[in-house]
Amino acid sequence: MCGIVGYIGTDDAARILVDGLRRLEYRGYDSAGVAVLGEQGLQVVRCEGKLVGLEKSLAETPVSGSMGIGHTRWATHGRPTEQNAHPHRFEGVAVVHNGIIENHLQLKSSLQAAGHRFESETDTEIFAHLIAAELSAEPGSPGGDGADGTDALTEAVRRALVHVRGTYAIAVLHEKDPSEIVVAKNASPLILGRGEGAWFVASDVPALLPYTRDIIFLEEEEIATVRADGARIARISGEPVERAPTRIDWSPVMAEKDGHKHFMHKEIHEQPRAIADTLRGRVSVETGDVHLEEVAIGEKEAAEISRVVIVACGTSWHAALVGKLAIERLARLPVEVDLASEFRYREPVIDENVLVMAISQSGETADTLAAMREAQRLGAKVLGIVNVVGSAIAREAEHVLYTHAGPEIGVASTKCFTTQLAALTLLAIRLGRLRGTLSDAVARSHLECLLKVPGYIEEILGNERMLRDTAISVSAAADFLFLGRGFNFPIALEGALKLKEISYIHAEGYAAGEMKHGPIALIDEGLPVVIVATKHSAYEKVVANMEEVRARGGRVIAVASQGDDQIGLLADDIIWLPDAGELVDPMLTVVPLQLLAYHVADYNGTDVDQPRNLAKSVTVE
Ligand code: AGP
Repeated sequence: MCGIVGYIGTDDAARILVDGLRRLEYRGYDSAGVAVLGEQGLQVVRCEGKLVGLEKSLAETPVSGSMGIGHTRWATHGRPTEQNAHPHRFEGVAVVHNGIIENHLQLKSSLQAAGHRFESETDTEIFAHLIAAELSAEPGSPGGDGADGTDALTEAVRRALVHVRGTYAIAVLHEKDPSEIVVAKNASPLILGRGEGAWFVASDVPALLPYTRDIIFLEEEEIATVRADGARIARISGEPVERAPTRIDWSPVMAEKDGHKHFMHKEIHEQPRAIADTLRGRVSVETGDVHLEEVAIGEKEAAEISRVVIVACGTSWHAALVGKLAIERLARLPVEVDLASEFRYREPVIDENVLVMAISQSGETADTLAAMREAQRLGAKVLGIVNVVGSAIAREAEHVLYTHAGPEIGVASTKCFTTQLAALTLLAIRLGRLRGTLSDAVARSHLECLLKVPGYIEEILGNERMLRDTAISVSAAADFLFLGRGFNFPIALEGALKLKEISYIHAEGYAAGEMKHGPIALIDEGLPVVIVATKHSAYEKVVANMEEVRARGGRVIAVASQGDDQIGLLADDIIWLPDAGELVDPMLTVVPLQLLAYHVADYNGTDVDQPRNLAKSVTVE
């Protein structure tokens, strides 16, 4: 939810911290701050609102030094004010934090009873006080090498963490110790980066791409002492950990806007490339086989699966709904789809024969992680479908299928959704082949369709100008309805979610057949109703629903298959799509809905990449 960066080296820390925060701003953007340690001691600059405010404050009050920590916040405890912005400091200790300290009220009262005074409403400030208290109880020697327990700051952080219950990624510095930053992690993401004569800390890989691609992913309950010439990692309980950096193949340009007005626009346009990357090396059209090396499920294991349960949130949950239809159809396995936030509270019936899939772009979503851990506790094996390499779900799942979409920065998920669909289709074909429910001929024809998807999406993107005109013509509407059936029902849900999250316009997604059971009452003159009516998924019935909308004066925007003359008579606006086959249809039908949402939001002037109240990676429950 929040973004953390840290730097220790020889360059201007403030510049590097702000640059890193800019790349992490998608994680939270209601306030920001940096703490830099230099010749003038510990300097903290914080600001309410977006990062540009912090940049302005830093221009007015420059700070100097070659080590520091920075933070961009998504408020959980305390309003988004400067006072609540991180870093928090106390007696020369500065802390940034991502996560939630569950026992903060308790800790706060004991500290208050001992004379501590707090300046913010946050749970994070507790860390600064706890660490400072530990430092004054056992001052140690600043800058010690830690081998003999003389590393005062690391030991103080370690002792402070013993009191804390909850989730955290923290970075800490102490003004008396200009040689190190101490970081620790429990359930919130944190990575270290090895540079040339410098080390970096961040919540996520894109922050570090311009500086290094040699990354160490910290595991739960680890603490690290980070210096300019190296990083020492240990368990919080004390045992040392040896871990070499992993080389990340994302390039810095992948995390830039590259000439597009918004990341979301760039990411919509990256979908042909992203889907091609998801498929690359995994498909054999000649034999009708799919090769998923990271998924160690063979014929025996596939035969033993009694049921599939998919857990996910938001857009990833919509991908799961499409995945259910594909797996049921091709592998003849019953599939349940659960909202991850509901799953573990409903006493799910899970055993070792249930294959649980956890779908997550970030691989860090707290609800999805918790659901997957609950499934593992009940004996199931988990297959993670994840974009971010080395993320928590990828590390903890028994099998991982990476979507290879590249970094997605826009808060509204686009290319990650379509690559999840591509990955799920591969998986459905693979399971069907393993279970003998899918002949090689049928598998081959599905794979042929799948391989054509990138080209078809290019075609759709070529019609963006027309879609933009349609978007502008409905941009003043207060409500929208999205309808679809079968494989396109989840796409109706996704179209509505995209529109509401970035334009703040109320939108509902419905299974078209359900319209007569309630939502039809909403239809009046001019209500934009977006109907996905390609030549699949109960086409005739969807056309009948379209007639019903027309009869009540609704404005029909249809997503239809090229050459469908019937639709021409019923819709006010039509977005024509190539006819690609039912199984892959959702990867195409969602693209115009993404563009519609994008252009409505852009025309209305909302903040497309960082919509209000949202964050890219939801690491709190
Ligand atoms: C998508 O546009 C949303 N911002 C959100 O619903 C997102 O899909 C959800 O939070 C799940 O994230 P994940 O895929 O990283 O787990």
